[in-house]
Amino acid sequence: MTSHSEQISATLVYPYLNHAVRMYESGYATRGDVDAGMRFGCGYPVGPLQALDEIGLDVVRDALAARYAESGDHLHQPAELLEKLVAEGRTGRGVGRGLYTWADGAVVADEETPSSDDAPRLRHEVRTVGVVGTGTMAAGIVEVFAKAGHEVTYVGRSDDKLAGVVASITKNQDRAIAKGRGDEATKAAVLGRLHGATSREALAEVDLVVEAIAEDLAVKTELFADLDRICKPGAILATTTSSLPIARCADATSRPEAVIGMHFFNPAPVMKLVEVVTTERTAPEVDETVRALCARVGKVAVSCGDRAGFIVNALLFPYLNDAALLAEQGTHSLVEIDAAIKEQVGLPMGPFELLDVVGNDVSLAIQQELHREFGEPGLAPARTLEEAVAEGRLGRKTGAGFHDYS
Ligand code: CAA
Repeated sequence: MTSHSEQISATLVYPYLNHAVRMYESGYATRGDVDAGMRFGCGYPVGPLQALDEIGLDVVRDALAARYAESGDHLHQPAELLEKLVAEGRTGRGVGRGLYTWADGAVVADEETPSSDDAPRLRHEVRTVGVVGTGTMAAGIVEVFAKAGHEVTYVGRSDDKLAGVVASITKNQDRAIAKGRGDEATKAAVLGRLHGATSREALAEVDLVVEAIAEDLAVKTELFADLDRICKPGAILATTTSSLPIARCADATSRPEAVIGMHFFNPAPVMKLVEVVTTERTAPEVDETVRALCARVGKVAVSCGDRAGFIVNALLFPYLNDAALLAEQGTHSLVEIDAAIKEQVGLPMGPFELLDVVGNDVSLAIQQELHREFGEPGLAPARTLEEAVAEGRLGRKTGAGFHDYS
């Protein structure tokens, strides 16, 4: 008999695994990038495709088919590739073949595994970096580059906002020192690489700019047009947008080949993933340079197309939304659902804890975008997520979200 918390985890996790198979079978992302995305973007112990092999494709397929028979929701219908692999007897680690090839309980390289010869190289020199924005993501991104030895010019709207970035990086450096992983000399060196400015003109000579300002297309296109005017020829212009079309930012410039997405995860200094998002017009050497740069600053890059949610948000937010829908049924409390996910599945945070960290306003906007892009009725935002936003319970930042932080 399955326990209460096993039921919760299967209800929430199996549709997420199914969704990951669909993403892989559609060719949107490689098998390795789907798994690396969830491991390094969200701190999951294993990626969804490897998890499927470990659980058994037949087990997940059967559970989904039973659920689909009840719900009729296409999101619960087993993915075609899942059906095909099960029919071929490729049910996962137990038989040595599933989505991956296995030997002695570990994944072995096969025809789909990239070789070390495929490692990206820096095609353009990137020494100095610019960041536009002073919010949580911007401060984290400034810190990532400064810690890796880059001089960073960051642009904010006021001296107070610039000081906030220094304060956040100082706090993280002090925490590292307190934990015995840093020293005063390193802290001074990192802080010495920060160059705050209130004018964008300060970005004229940087090799790469990452913007992390408001998620508003009009605001971003104005910025990209201005960066195009200000930045030297050859400078790469990157956006860390999680939900807007990068092609529209590129259209605002005379250098669409140099415009790319670099989607970092929260908290940026800790989460190792960067989704590198190319448009149809991004130059291959710009893509390769940015992926090589990610490796140089200690991040793992995965490659994505310019589509709502990229890899991680497209898999993560429907699962978070499903958690809210499950809670709405009233049979499990928020605390029970959070605990089941952490204890049964080993994820670092429960869904409601994570929603409160990301912010319910941000989460709702992403879920609405996914609903629009994929047109699946099952992706409609949960009523309680909409209510939390309408009532101003945005998460930790407002002292209350799904949980209370007062
Ligand atoms: N800034 C800098 N460092 C931080 C930090 C922050 N805001 N928060 C935590 N850290 C550091 C801590 O100093 C600590 O470092 P050491 O281990 O080197 O000492 C480390 O991170 C672990 O922190 P804690 O021990 O305090 O706490 P934890 O073990 O619970 O880990 C966590 C915290 C890393 C955030 C972990 O809970 C986690 O991985 N959560 C999942 C986060 C996630 O899913 N993020 C993606 C959200 S989606 C998104 O960002 C995309 C989007 O478009 C919205």
